Amino acid sequence: MTQLQDANPGLSIGLTINGQPRRLTVAPWTTLLDLLREQLDLVGTKKGCDHGQCGACTVLRNGVRVNACLTLAVMCDGDQLTTIEGLAEGDRLHPLQQAFIDHDAFQCGYCTPGQICSALGLAHEGRAHSPEQLREAMSGNLCRCGAYGNIIAAVEQALPLIHRDGRGPRP
Ligand code: FES
Ligand code: FES
Repeated sequence: MTQLQDANPGLSIGLTINGQPRRLTVAPWTTLLDLLREQLDLVGTKKGCDHGQCGACTVLRNGVRVNACLTLAVMCDGDQLTTIEGLAEGDRLHPLQQAFIDHDAFQCGYCTPGQICSALGLAHEGRAHSPEQLREAMSGNLCRCGAYGNIIAAVEQALPLIHRDGRGPRP
């Protein structure tokens, strides 16, 4: 082991990810995004810019949408995290996932997990009641394919179902 490694031992943290409690050892500088993708193989969460500018890495932390690339893993000790992998219930897609299919709301799909997690967080913020407000509230999630019209239509379809069925982030 190198002197550098000796000086920077891993830190033990406890998380609940998609309903599964986990105890993990992480370096102090590991981002939540790298923890999800590199250590836990939850690669549905995408790395776009890695600088908080594209929203591709959006996940839910205690039900609140965050950019995983700007969140250190050690900051999440004791938290509940929800990623795109945690939304479906068996073969039953989450209403947002179904709505994105119904409205053809993606092309390459790279931004889609972040769009869906962001919309789910937004559903629980309860502050977007028109397409204009939805666009503003989702403006941190970029889509290089320009599927914005279909994305907004999908989110509009799903929001009432989320509220009716209570299918939010896991508690
Ligand atoms: Fe996190 Fe772009 S990868 S905002
Ligand atoms: Fe390609 Fe959004 S579907 S970036």
